[in-house]
Amino acid sequence: MKKPWSGRFKEKTADIVEKYTESISFDKRLWKQDIEGSIAHAKMLAKQGIISDSDLKEILIGLTEIYREIEDGKFKFDIKLEDIHMHIEAALIKKIGEAGSKLHTARSRNDQVSLDLRLYLKEEIREIIALLLKIEFIFTEVAEKHLTIVMPGYTHLQRAQPVLLSHHLMAYAHMFDRDRMRLQDTLKRLDVSPLGACALAGTSLNIDRKYVSEILDFHSVSQNSIDSVSDRDFAIEFLSNSAILMMHISRLAEELILWSTEEFSFIELPDAFTTGSSIMPQKKNPDVLELMRGKTGRIYGNLISLLTTMKGLPLSYNRDMQEDKEPIFDTVDTLKMTLNVIIELLPNIIFNSKRMAETVQEGFLTATDIAEYLVRKGLPFRMAHELTGKMVRYCIDNNKRFKDLTLEEYKNFSTLFSEDIYNYVDPFDSINSKRSEGGTARELVIQQISQFRRKLQEL
Ligand code: ARG
Repeated sequence: MKKPWSGRFKEKTADIVEKYTESISFDKRLWKQDIEGSIAHAKMLAKQGIISDSDLKEILIGLTEIYREIEDGKFKFDIKLEDIHMHIEAALIKKIGEAGSKLHTARSRNDQVSLDLRLYLKEEIREIIALLLKIEFIFTEVAEKHLTIVMPGYTHLQRAQPVLLSHHLMAYAHMFDRDRMRLQDTLKRLDVSPLGACALAGTSLNIDRKYVSEILDFHSVSQNSIDSVSDRDFAIEFLSNSAILMMHISRLAEELILWSTEEFSFIELPDAFTTGSSIMPQKKNPDVLELMRGKTGRIYGNLISLLTTMKGLPLSYNRDMQEDKEPIFDTVDTLKMTLNVIIELLPNIIFNSKRMAETVQEGFLTATDIAEYLVRKGLPFRMAHELTGKMVRYCIDNNKRFKDLTLEEYKNFSTLFSEDIYNYVDPFDSINSKRSEGGTARELVIQQISQFRRKLQEL
């Protein structure tokens, strides 16, 4: 098979080199984008009089046939033709002859591959954004459904203060919302057409870059041909956004794993999303969640992989950059699958409200409420903190909870205490007193959910 670039070579490429350098085994995934880009490019060449209208007609017919052949699985891929760009061009020339050999005028694989990747990522990022939106909605729904469930909020994984489960769940909605916005923002920088940068310097032929970019629905045209072919920032941004998103997913998975343990018993995972043990018949394992947590390593790896590939590269295009594709594809696949699992899993988690409520009764979770009570009565906070700490000590020694203490015992600690203290030591009262903006008071959480949902609906 003759290579499009064989002109200056005397010897044929070594077999091992063909195996080593090929990218068709993975970049065939870009076939649609590659054909789409070629169609736009050919239309521009004809409009500019660089190729004839009849050439264009033949090219369009040929490319449409190739499109169908690939779609139907009839197209033959061969590593001798390196990558998807050469495959499609070679097939076109084989089909239509001379007109096909004009397609690559004023174009290089360097601007072509950047174009294909941008088109591919634009579509995939939009899909990921749609999945994220769905997840954000599900969080608001689950949060709304469980507005009566009280749980301990944690710091250092120690019970800290009572909060509403809905408030805790909405924290994730906010995290995924930021992830979605980051991707949305990346789309802006992605939305620039590199086509026409050619190999690196542009071309002496009279092309119309804006025209191509409009056909392909890009917002604008890149402004420096060298940067156009050497830039992979958009891919790194995507991988970086994905790493942050996956970190959030991993934290969610970790919490759900913890909550599903006998020790926590906060939730029951649906059978369909757990697996058994091959030796211990009683086990119900959260493997799906563990894999979410585990796959986070891969997604981080993909980011580091491309960053490292790019870090030492002189301008402009270098073949190293072919290594960008597998991390991108793997990230897209892993992310989409993971998000779809979350979409199915989340609504089916059963929350053990009784167990959660029990845990807020133990462990002096309303100690801060007592300190704040004393602050309202005029005691400086540090002194209130110290005094409440002593009360905790006293309760531990006497095996009592705050609500078991008599008014006399309270008064022994401070004369600032009066009968109304009993309105502040109950976890439910504690929650509803947290009325500062963004706090866990039920009324505010209801507001938070509805505002959040309104924002999503406006999108
Ligand atoms: N397969 C190559 C890649 O993915 C396409 C660009 C090749 N360009 C070149 N001058 N060899 O990066």
